Amino acid sequence: MIYKKRTHTCGELNLQHLDQFVTLNGWVDSRRDLGGIIFIYIRDRYGKTQVVFNPQENKSLHELASALRSEFVISVTGIVKRRPPGQENNEITTGEIELIANELNIINKSETPPFQIEDNIDISEEIRLKYRYLDLRRQTLQRNLLTRHRLYQLTRKYFDENGFVEIETPILMKSTPEGARDYLVPSRVHPGKFYALPQSPQTYKQILMVAGFDRYFQIAKCFRDEDLRADRQPEFTQIDVEMSFVDEGDIFKLVEGLIVKMFEEIKGISIKTPFKILTYKDAIEKYGTDKPDLRFDLSIKYLNDILSNTEFKVFKDTIEKGEIVAGIVAPSCAHYSRSQIDNITEFVKKLGGGGLIWMKITEKGIDSPASKYISKDVLDSIVSRINAKVGDLILIVADEYKKVYNILGALRIEIANRQNLIDPNKYELLWVIDFPLLEYNPDESRYIAVHHPFTSPKFEDLELLDKNPEKVRARAYDLVLNGNEIAGGSIRIFNRELQNKMFSLLGISEAEAQKKFGFLLDSFKYGAPPHGGIAFGFDRIVMLLTGQKSIRDVIAFPKTTSAMSLMDDSPSEVDEEQLRELHIKIEK
Ligand code: AMO
Repeated sequence: MIYKKRTHTCGELNLQHLDQFVTLNGWVDSRRDLGGIIFIYIRDRYGKTQVVFNPQENKSLHELASALRSEFVISVTGIVKRRPPGQENNEITTGEIELIANELNIINKSETPPFQIEDNIDISEEIRLKYRYLDLRRQTLQRNLLTRHRLYQLTRKYFDENGFVEIETPILMKSTPEGARDYLVPSRVHPGKFYALPQSPQTYKQILMVAGFDRYFQIAKCFRDEDLRADRQPEFTQIDVEMSFVDEGDIFKLVEGLIVKMFEEIKGISIKTPFKILTYKDAIEKYGTDKPDLRFDLSIKYLNDILSNTEFKVFKDTIEKGEIVAGIVAPSCAHYSRSQIDNITEFVKKLGGGGLIWMKITEKGIDSPASKYISKDVLDSIVSRINAKVGDLILIVADEYKKVYNILGALRIEIANRQNLIDPNKYELLWVIDFPLLEYNPDESRYIAVHHPFTSPKFEDLELLDKNPEKVRARAYDLVLNGNEIAGGSIRIFNRELQNKMFSLLGISEAEAQKKFGFLLDSFKYGAPPHGGIAFGFDRIVMLLTGQKSIRDVIAFPKTTSAMSLMDDSPSEVDEEQLRELHIKIEK
């Protein structure tokens, strides 16, 4: 097929090119026939340009143009002219000019696409994912992937400039202890044995520290067979980092430097450092979550002390059981009707709460089903603790610790959404530190590591390891942006005795530890430096910087929430022969 190659892209021409002969290559974006003249937009990833076919000037060319349909691939040559006054389009870079065609090649035809290639189309995500190559022609997705590209480049540059070495670690490996289910790959040459796809390069990056690389980074693919959500994919990308001879402060400084660069280059926003730091305990007790959205306040207020002498049964019983009474304000919600309040109560019950106590602060005083059982003084103390004004509604929950904060954390976001308290142009970053090291798992009757088994306990909590393991805090940290966990890491254990102690607390026998992570433990025998690191959820960062709601919109070929790839229809069945080679029999 002979066609004229482009002299310019479809987003390039402007008044500086007036009267030049140019050739554009691209896709037919749209076609309009007006008063016998055919107007098309030709599109490529740089933009689109209006092309005019006038039958008065060239009849046969106009005839050829009348065969053009959406998504045909064409080459068009012509002369650049200023658009007639009033016909400019200032939404596109080429909006002041048009190309008067005098040559057209149809390079390739297209079937009628299942949807228009434009933003804000109303079609299901299934169709978009099935025809992902068409979906990816849309401007939003192109822009997202271009931003993603810029973020890869600036990440590599940043780490290189800071003395980091990029090292690839294996995709076929031994199972890593990150807590999700592994994706397994059967070995053909070793019947009955499996590789695991990395949930993260955690063990390798620690071994690279033992190997003396000092500063490592990688843009790494990770695989986790877990329940999927808008911010979770079965395969996702991390910016993975590990450093030797460092403490938390060194890691925070490095990470903050990268985040500042990302915001500067992608959004043109300067972010203040150092970031806020909140302990896990404060995060839970103020915001009901370990990833608080700080774009709005509405913090949770503890009420037990104020209510210690109350006779109101719900509160009294809760406090006597050693549980928690706490509340938040719903600003300007005192006008809520019975059914609106029932609706919030329902919301609380869905989260496992027993109920909700509400108080409306009105001009006439406090209107609440509880007010006749609680003294005026105590009511006033509640209002002042919760910082409520006339016109506000107070929402109080009384239950066990975890439930209270979980419910109030969810209510906090619900209220903020209802009352439009979240500024979408605001970016609030914070570190959450001092996570618990261990968490008791009643189903397995044992402790499990909150982060992973190589995370160091805090030095000052070491003596609690035997007495009160649940109280031990970890040297782990998460970075949170607008309520999303965008990175997490820790200072690691590098001392053999402490590592053994940790395994015994986790109920992992020495033999089991050796079998699972023997290679890492063995490496530690030969001089492991103190080290620590972090991993960023790269897809989540791209999602937040491009203002998308789902990480699927920043990944070229994502999977659905049921882990399917609709375009290539995977996972799919394989030939009997392939299974036999892998020594696998399928039982349906
Ligand atoms: P963690 O498991 O916290 O830490 O993961 C780091 C970051 O990766 C992102 N993330 C995900 N993004 C998309 N889909 C998923 N399924 C998914 N799971 C996690 C999150 C998270 O903050 N090896 C440790 C890091 C370390 O200790 O250095 C690790 O992987 O943004």
